[in-house]
Amino acid sequence: MIKTVTDNEEETRTLGERLGKFLKAGDVILLSGELGAGKTRFAQGIAKGLGCTSNVTSPTFVLINEYPGDITFFHADLYRLEKADLDEIGLWDSTEMGVLVVEWPERAGDSFPENALQLSLSFGSRTNERLIEFFIDSEREQAILASGDFK
Ligand SMILES: Nc1ncnc2c1ncn2[C@@H]1O[C@H](COP(=O)(O)OP(=O)(O)OP(=O)(O)O)[C@@H](O)[C@H]1O
Ligand SMILES: [Mg+2]
Repeated sequence: MIKTVTDNEEETRTLGERLGKFLKAGDVILLSGELGAGKTRFAQGIAKGLGCTSNVTSPTFVLINEYPGDITFFHADLYRLEKADLDEIGLWDSTEMGVLVVEWPERAGDSFPENALQLSLSFGSRTNERLIEFFIDSEREQAILASGDFK
């Protein structure tokens, strides 16, 4: 498990960007955390790390957005998901074509792809402090830790 702390939204974006550089098409990232924890900021960073130059905004009303990049970035937010929508948006179908980041994954029950990377963001005790924890396969975890970008 990798555990880290950020003190402002830019640091959270940068962390996302660093993780993004280690991702490959087919990866699914589940971002858990309360409203305002920083999931979308982190997702914006991932997009940048994948070479997306688009302005990534919260997909709350459309559930899923797609952005071109060196690797295609799919961004879903299931906060407003109705049960019937899950099949309709074909959420897990897009996973082979790029990197899929999902906010509020709990709303989809527990039908996640097996390879999904789980991240959680939570509020720290100081203003603007966020705790970010994630579980990643051990091979990549070692590469990420060796890069010195996550401590
Ligand atoms: N360390 C930090 N990291 C990320 N965001 C921070 C941090 N400190 C303060 N913020 C603020 O917290 C808010 C995070 O908003 P963001 O939209 O990323 O949250 P979210 O988890 O996606 O929420 P939602 O569940 O509503 O989608 C922003 O207003 C941002 O400026
Ligand atoms: Mg969000």
